[in-house]
Amino acid sequence: MCGIVGYSGPGNSVGPIIEGLSRLEYRGYDSAGICLKINNELQIIKKEGKLDNLKELLNVQTPFSHTGIGHTRWATHGAVSTDNAHPHGNEMFAVVHNGIIENAGPLKKELQAEGYQFKSQTDSEVFLVLLTKFYKQSGKTLESIAKAFNTITGNSAFVIIEKSSDRLYCLKRSAPLVVGENPETREAYVSSDPFALVGYAPIIYFPQDGVICESVVSPTDVKINFYELDLTPSSRYKNQANLMTVDATTKGPYEHFMLKEIHEQSALIDKLSAYYIKNDGRKILESLKGFKPKGWHLTACGTAWHAGLVIKNYFESINRQSASIDIASEFRYKNPILNQGEVGLFISQSGETADTLACQELCKEKGIPSYSIVNVEGSTLFRNADKNFLIHAGVEIGVASTKAFTLQALTGYLMSRAMEGTLDDPKLFSEIQLLSHRVGELCASADSLKEVAEKIYTKKGFIFTGRGRYFPIALEGALKLKEIAYVHAEGYAAGELKHGPIALIDENIVNIAVVGPELLEKTLSNVEEVKARRGIMVVVGPKNHPEIEHLADAYIPLNFDGLNNLSPLYVNVALQFLAYHIAKLKGTDIDKPRNLAKSVTVE
Ligand code: F6R
Repeated sequence: MCGIVGYSGPGNSVGPIIEGLSRLEYRGYDSAGICLKINNELQIIKKEGKLDNLKELLNVQTPFSHTGIGHTRWATHGAVSTDNAHPHGNEMFAVVHNGIIENAGPLKKELQAEGYQFKSQTDSEVFLVLLTKFYKQSGKTLESIAKAFNTITGNSAFVIIEKSSDRLYCLKRSAPLVVGENPETREAYVSSDPFALVGYAPIIYFPQDGVICESVVSPTDVKINFYELDLTPSSRYKNQANLMTVDATTKGPYEHFMLKEIHEQSALIDKLSAYYIKNDGRKILESLKGFKPKGWHLTACGTAWHAGLVIKNYFESINRQSASIDIASEFRYKNPILNQGEVGLFISQSGETADTLACQELCKEKGIPSYSIVNVEGSTLFRNADKNFLIHAGVEIGVASTKAFTLQALTGYLMSRAMEGTLDDPKLFSEIQLLSHRVGELCASADSLKEVAEKIYTKKGFIFTGRGRYFPIALEGALKLKEIAYVHAEGYAAGELKHGPIALIDENIVNIAVVGPELLEKTLSNVEEVKARRGIMVVVGPKNHPEIEHLADAYIPLNFDGLNNLSPLYVNVALQFLAYHIAKLKGTDIDKPRNLAKSVTVE
């Protein structure tokens, strides 16, 4: 979704803005632009398409400016075009926006009736025009920003620069926004993501909704002022050191971020289990000991929803607690039955997914406590939760989520064991160590998965099947493949195959059967059914199994021994590699698949 970066300071704003926007490219966008204050004029340069198009323009013009804002746009209101690209500006202000102004239509009509003209089809420009209108009335920037913000509805973040000063202004409602400062170099920054500011701003601030942030840079100082919308000083913000390192921003020895992130999983599993069982995370986890709410409502989207399905299985099978799970975009509109004593559990990598946030809001309105399993500390989901269970995955840049899934599911497992009161069971730690070891082994032997990919990558369609604890893995395997390889792939409960999808099977369709040691014989009979219809069979199953060897066109043998509840997380890594290699053979844009955005901050 849209990326925002702003700069004010003694240096040239172009470098940090373009570097920041490049780091946010993974989130998905379709145009890019920058506004620079040069010789007391606001100069806008923007272009449809990739950031490289904008960079080319900047290479020709080589501008220098102490104050600027940049934006990558993911179109919502108005087509993908240079005119609709941000920033939007006029002789007084320039604005970048992330989110949606819900009442933009009627406001635009009113403003047009008053004689204001619009250069784009975007909702964002409505904010610019409102701001300009109010400024013409009062001549006061802060007051006009507050008034414009109070006039619009919907979730948005705005960054504003003005012709008359070098200040950066920003504010937001339920959208990500971070302000940064470097006191040594006297530079101020703003972004939609702290990742863009790594290496630039050692101190970052997270303003709450409706707090106006004003960055003031002087020859001796940099200062961030915070105001409420009535312009009284505000203390509704959180500040912290930006602990991310520049390493996180590079691929290292890997060809893609996705591959790097798959390989990171083994070490992250160790780190997370140590954090929750032995170190700082122990306290929050222990607060769950003996906890037995009347029921859990799990909600999430996409891969996080699949992790939720795994977690639901843990809560039900280990704790015998009732847990419902919904796709967030469904839950929010279904008038869910929510009773006192129940708990909402929201799972999200970014912590900014609009539908998941709406479900959290809904639960809060009904007085249901809100727990999160989340990666981004300080995200909106994190800030609005009563209890947060961080997954500590580090920044995930590949659009296709890999390590976040594994760590979300593992966090859910640890929550389940904490409720059970078995965190000190020595077997728990060794079981998780075994998972990390097996994931490491899979990474070391990933070339064998490449060979399987070579056999099947030209086929027309892929049906992933799994039973019980492997059903969510079948869904996730299919999602991973379709998003990065652009092929049709579906996940099915193995037993459902003959209730419809078997009609699809022929020599051009691949069935990837995820088979654990549990219910093995039953699942193998499904395999026979596919073979009988000339389908191509890939079996991901227990190693050294002669029957699988005999039946499968390709066999991915895995060592399930001792993994028990954690085996779905292990098997899933094999499917991540398979999707990766198929996509690579197809030559797709693996880290930034077409049409996708990393963080879906609009409905
Ligand atoms: C798939 C993927 C998406 C996300 C979904 C939720 O690889 O990345 O399906 O899982 O958009 O995102 P978060 O976890 O940020 O709420």
